[in-house]
Amino acid sequence: MNLAWQIEQYLPRQLLELVKDISGQAAKRGQRVYLVGGVVRDLLLGYPNFDLDLVVEGDAVKLAQQVAKTSQAKLLAHHRFGTAKLRYGNFSLDLATARGETYAKPGALPAVTPGTLKNDLIRRDFSVNAMAISLASNDYGELVDPYQGKSDLEHRLIRILHPGSFSDDATRILRAVRYEQRLGFELEAQTAQLLKRDIPMLDTISGDRIRHELELILKEKRPEFVIRRLAELGVLQRISPLLKGDGWLVEKFDKARRLKKPSQLPSLYFCLLVYSFSENEIEQLLVRLNIPAKLSRAMRDTLRLKTRLALLDTSPLKPSEIYYLLREYESMAIETNAIASDSSTVHHYLQLFLTKLRYVRTALDGEELKRLGISAGPEMGQVLQILHKAKLDGEVRTRADEKKLARSLSPKS
Ligand code: CTP
Repeated sequence: MNLAWQIEQYLPRQLLELVKDISGQAAKRGQRVYLVGGVVRDLLLGYPNFDLDLVVEGDAVKLAQQVAKTSQAKLLAHHRFGTAKLRYGNFSLDLATARGETYAKPGALPAVTPGTLKNDLIRRDFSVNAMAISLASNDYGELVDPYQGKSDLEHRLIRILHPGSFSDDATRILRAVRYEQRLGFELEAQTAQLLKRDIPMLDTISGDRIRHELELILKEKRPEFVIRRLAELGVLQRISPLLKGDGWLVEKFDKARRLKKPSQLPSLYFCLLVYSFSENEIEQLLVRLNIPAKLSRAMRDTLRLKTRLALLDTSPLKPSEIYYLLREYESMAIETNAIASDSSTVHHYLQLFLTKLRYVRTALDGEELKRLGISAGPEMGQVLQILHKAKLDGEVRTRADEKKLARSLSPKS
């Protein structure tokens, strides 16, 4: 099958120029270059994906350096394991030396050796991700599909390439379900069986790698479907026995998307995932996934604040009371509780804090208070707090109001 026409139609002009430049330079060096992985899958499905991965049968770093020297493309970075990133205009692409991989033991990072395109494709996760398109001039656009990826795309199947795939790299268990749900595919029967068999192999994967895969899931358009399916297969429970993908989560993830910016969503989803956890349970998960400090704080604060929400759901509260109750919590924890709580009063107070109260500042500062006769130290701290509360509660509005109140508090008044 030849996909030259699709490449020309599909890729933006600048990106196509860069791709052609690379393959032209490669030809001069006697090397072949291929488009590989997700972009080939998406091109066949007709989905936009301009994250291009290119594989070179030969030294990818030297090729990238040559392209950067003789064209307008910039070499952004290159690594000792034979990969390089090039940028041209608004686009960037990754170039890698074709390589084979062997796994010394399950879950270990693979040992890498230079290889052919075919070696490079067999080490990949699923047949639909193990196709390539030639960019060489003599067979430009030819699909290379040694593992029946196109047929699996047509049958809407996610299939591993060999029975040891999940035990070699158990992150593929999470990836399989992510693609299955994103593309609306099914796990091929044997793949599903092996996936279930190899769930315990997730224990061989480091916290950072599991977390990275969870982050990719949480960046999907509808992560709750992936989570729900992972729970159904018994995968989620292997990561933490309490993680659930139930109707509550579906409803809250949906609410989060309606209320928040996409950049906030992954952290918010993480906090929602642990909403029913106890303090102990959350600590275990933080360790298992090696969660970074800021997100750990947000997750812990989510639970601490949850236990205090009843205080917000009682008689009417003054803005200053709301402020002093909430100020010690990470804003992500407040956002999470605003979405998780079913009480409209709680929601209203949390939103009031997030959108207004946390930004309220007094007009007077320490220097001005000194001029009004208030001495630095605890006394000034107290006056500033009284002014701040009065401002929050609307008892003072202008600078003059604040001065009047401060003077009345000064011992010399
Ligand atoms: N890959 C793999 N095993 C992994 C991770 C990646 O075999 N554990 C391979 C797949 O062939 C994949 C390619 O590396 O297509 C690039 O990985 P990634 O960028 O994660 O996937 P894409 O398919 O490019 O992107 P996306 O998942 O967002 O569609």
